[in-house]
Amino acid sequence: MTETTPETSGPVIEPRHFRETLGHYPTGVAAITAVTEEHGPIGMIVGSFTSVSLNPPLVAFMPQKTSGTFELLRAADSFCVNVLSADQEQLCRRFAAGGVDKFAGIGWQAAPSGAPVLDDVVAWIDCTYESIVEAGDHYIVLGRVGAVDVVKPALPLLFFQGGYGRFSLPSLVAGADPDLIHSIRLAEFARDQIEAVADELGAECSVMAPVGEDSVFVALASRAAVPSNVSLGFHVPLVPPLGSVFISNLGSVAINAWLSRIPQADEETQATYVAQLERVRERGYSLSLRGPHSDWEMFTAARDYSSPDRLPEHERRFRTLIREQAHLYEPDINPDGTYDLHSVVVPVQGPMGIVQIALRLANTPRQASGHDVLQWIERLQEAARVVAERLSVPQPTALLADA
Ligand SMILES: Cc1cc2nc3c(=O)[nH]c(=O)nc-3n(C[C@H](O)[C@H](O)[C@H](O)COP(=O)(O)O)c2cc1C
Repeated sequence: MTETTPETSGPVIEPRHFRETLGHYPTGVAAITAVTEEHGPIGMIVGSFTSVSLNPPLVAFMPQKTSGTFELLRAADSFCVNVLSADQEQLCRRFAAGGVDKFAGIGWQAAPSGAPVLDDVVAWIDCTYESIVEAGDHYIVLGRVGAVDVVKPALPLLFFQGGYGRFSLPSLVAGADPDLIHSIRLAEFARDQIEAVADELGAECSVMAPVGEDSVFVALASRAAVPSNVSLGFHVPLVPPLGSVFISNLGSVAINAWLSRIPQADEETQATYVAQLERVRERGYSLSLRGPHSDWEMFTAARDYSSPDRLPEHERRFRTLIREQAHLYEPDINPDGTYDLHSVVVPVQGPMGIVQIALRLANTPRQASGHDVLQWIERLQEAARVVAERLSVPQPTALLADA
C-alpha cells in the first residue's frame, strides 16, 4: 500500500458553492464494509465509489480524512463495496450516521475476503487495498478487486441534489413487457379491420391496449392527409379522462384507483368523470372533440404528471389541461350538428367481458356532420365486433402464448 501527497494549488472556491454545484452530478450509493478483530463488522456510506481499471481490475472511493470509520476500515486487509438498492434508503441513512450500532439487525454474509456483503444489495465488489493517496481533505483509496457479483439486479439507490431517488425511463416508448407482447399479438387479430376503417374513412385507426398503468398504441393504420401525432409503442398514462374504455366495465376498486390519479380533484371534477365513465359504459364507446390542444400536448402533459420526476410545473400544466378539456369528452352527438372530432375509442370485448384491446379512430375530416360522426362510430363498432368474435374463438396456443 503506498501513500502520496499531491501539491495543493488552484483558485479558492467557496465550499457551499462547490458542494451545491457538484450536487448536480448524480451518484450511486455504496456501503464500504470490513471486519476487524477489535470492532467486528464496520461500514460507511460513500457516493464517491467509481470503477477505475479493467486490467488490472481496480476501483476507488474517496473517504474524508476526518472519517473515524475509515480509520477503522483501513486497519482491515480488505473491504467490500456494497451497491445499495433503491429500497435501502433506511439502511443508507443508518450507515451514514455516527454513534449508532450500524449492523444491529442487518443480515450479511462474508465475501471471499471475509468482508461483509449486506443482505439485499444490488451487487458487491470485494477488494484489497492497492493504494491510499491524499487528495486535499480526502483520500483516494484504490482497491484491487478480488471478486464481484450481482445479488439482485434491482434499481440502485441514487443521490442527487442532496436527496435520494431512483433511476427511471421517462420515455414515451414502452419497453419490452410480457403484457405488451401479448397485446401486440392480440392486435394482429385487428390488423385488417383497422386498415379497412382507415381506408374507408381516410383517417387514422389504431389498436390500443392497457399495459400496467398506461395504454399503449400496439397497431396503427394511417390514411389521413395529416401525419399522425402518435407512433407504435407510444404510451399514454391511464389518468382521467384518458383510457375510460379500459376502466368503465371494471369494479369500484379499479375505478377509484383511476379517479385517484386526477391531481387534487375536487368533488365536482370527480363527479364529472364518474358520469362520463357511465356514459362510456352505456354507449359502448368514448368520444372526444377537438379542443385548442393537440394529442401530443395532452399525452405529454399526462406522461409528465404520472412521472416519478413530476415537478410542480407539470402538475399545474396537466391540471389546467384536463380542466379545459373536460367538457370535450363524451358529448351528445346530434345528427344535424357539426363536430370537430378528436377521437372515438371502442372497446373490443374479450372473453368474459375483459377489454384487452380497443380500436381508436382519429384524424378524421374536420367539421363533420353529426350524421357522419355517428356513422363512423357505427363503422368502428362493427370492426370491434368482428375482432371480438375472433378473440372469442379459442386461439392456438402458439398465437397467444408468451414465447
Ligand atoms: C449519500 C452519501 C454519500 C456520502 N459519500 C461520502 C464519501 O464519498 N466520502 C466520505 O468520506 N463520506 C461520505 N459520506 C458521509 C459518510 O457516509 C459518513 O456520514 C461519515 O463518514 C461519518 O463520519 P464517520 O466516518 O467519522 O463516522 C456520504 C454520506 C452520504 C449520505
